[in-house]
Amino acid sequence: MGKVYVFDHPLIQHKVSLMRDKNTGTKDFRQLLEEISMLMVYEVTRDLPTEEVEIETPICTTKAKMLAGKKIGIVPILRAGLGMVDAVATLIPAARVGHIGLYRDPETLQPVEYYCKLPADSEQRELLVLDPMLATGGSASAAINFLKQRGCQHIRLVNLIAAPEGVARIQKDHPDVNIYVACMDEKLNDHGYIVPGLGDAGDRLFGTK
Ligand code: PRP
Ligand code: URA
Repeated sequence: MGKVYVFDHPLIQHKVSLMRDKNTGTKDFRQLLEEISMLMVYEVTRDLPTEEVEIETPICTTKAKMLAGKKIGIVPILRAGLGMVDAVATLIPAARVGHIGLYRDPETLQPVEYYCKLPADSEQRELLVLDPMLATGGSASAAINFLKQRGCQHIRLVNLIAAPEGVARIQKDHPDVNIYVACMDEKLNDHGYIVPGLGDAGDRLFGTK
């Protein structure tokens, strides 16, 4: 079963609380999501392998560590996942970015695909799937299915807020995928929204409501 990493760092918790506040406007919401994503990348990538290389400093030649092995791919789930991309790409500039467009049908809560464009060599990359919200888990599970259908095997799911239902869904459908979240919330309400959550992440990020 995939592991779940919950980040209880005070800075992350403080910033998530600001995002939850319904009075936080779009500009601050966007900036906070970016800041938290940056802080999360630090932990999400903690176990990436390094290798020793020889470099010349202005003083001498030395052996130093650099990232080795797999290249990274960033895969935001549209729309809200877009708000996490710049932060990750800033810290991992060599990463390629793929996009998966999904929206959740408000009646059935089932994910509907409308876009998928991935780097040509995605299957060779360690992929970070980004979406602020893991509610029923339907969208993230479908996105991971797309990636697996295209031969991708090394996938990590990065969410800001998760409901227990969403985590259970991913662990059942994709036991090979580890989940990284800033906060584990209590439950879903009757409309599939996370409680206490932060409302509709896409709408708050883009100011569409
Ligand atoms: C939100 C969110 C996730 C999904 C989570 O997207 O960004 O993708 O819902 O719900 P689930 O775990 O129950 O599938 P939404 O469908 O609102 O689309 P948007 O990002 O375009 O607003
Ligand atoms: N999507 C959101 O944006 N928020 C939720 O609480 C659930 C799904």
